[in-house]
Amino acid sequence: MSKNDQISGWKRFIQSVTRAKDIENEEEIMTDHDYDGIKELDNVLPPWWTAGFIITILVGAFYYINVFFNSEKYNQYEELETEIAEAKAEVEAYKEANPDLFKVDVTLLTDAASLDAGKKTFGTYCVACHMADGGGGIGPNLTDDHWILGGGMEKVYNTISEGGRSGKGMVSWKASLSAQQMQEVASYVISLQGTTPANPKEAEGEIIWTKQ
Ligand code: HEC
Repeated sequence: MSKNDQISGWKRFIQSVTRAKDIENEEEIMTDHDYDGIKELDNVLPPWWTAGFIITILVGAFYYINVFFNSEKYNQYEELETEIAEAKAEVEAYKEANPDLFKVDVTLLTDAASLDAGKKTFGTYCVACHMADGGGGIGPNLTDDHWILGGGMEKVYNTISEGGRSGKGMVSWKASLSAQQMQEVASYVISLQGTTPANPKEAEGEIIWTKQ
């Protein structure tokens, strides 16, 4: 097959899927519309386009029938439930594979490395409201012995994990911090007690708790 034959074969193929008129024969499909010299050709819809359009209609019909009349097979609610169950199983598997991240341990940590890690977490997530020295701002002063939600590791951990009273601004951190991070930052908060911040906020809360 010569090169010319190949080219004309390709042209014929394009012609068959577009049914476009050659430029020389355009006159045949020229309409008499004339807008300031701009004329209009009455081209046929290209067969490739028409085929695509028909396919979307067929797929649409297939989809409609399956979703609305074959709901045992395609039930969105069941699909949702299956996916939720799968996601839950994945979360459980992740928890099992990373027990350290999720094991709630409310033992007070006092070693330098843990307190340092707690300080870092505090610096990232908490300073905006509690100030770097814990003196308080939007959130209460964390250095005094008055507590709104309760002092001591268990209570402080719970406040960090679950958040404060609704609408007060102290959100639950358990989605952003691991159990270990919460243990560290709670320990760090407790280590702040008794320190003297630069601008201490007045003590708030009825609960008095002082660490030994
Ligand atoms: C958007 C501001 C904001 C951020 C950020 C924030 N807090 Fe708070 N925090 C508050 C407010 C407001 C309260 C008081 C909640 C209440 O009254 O229920 C509070 C309360 C607390 C309490 C309880 C104090 C008490 O007197 O019982 C602790 C502990 C605490 N925050 C620790 C943290 C830690 C740790 C972080 C970082 C992980 C953090 N907070 C981040 C605003 C914030």
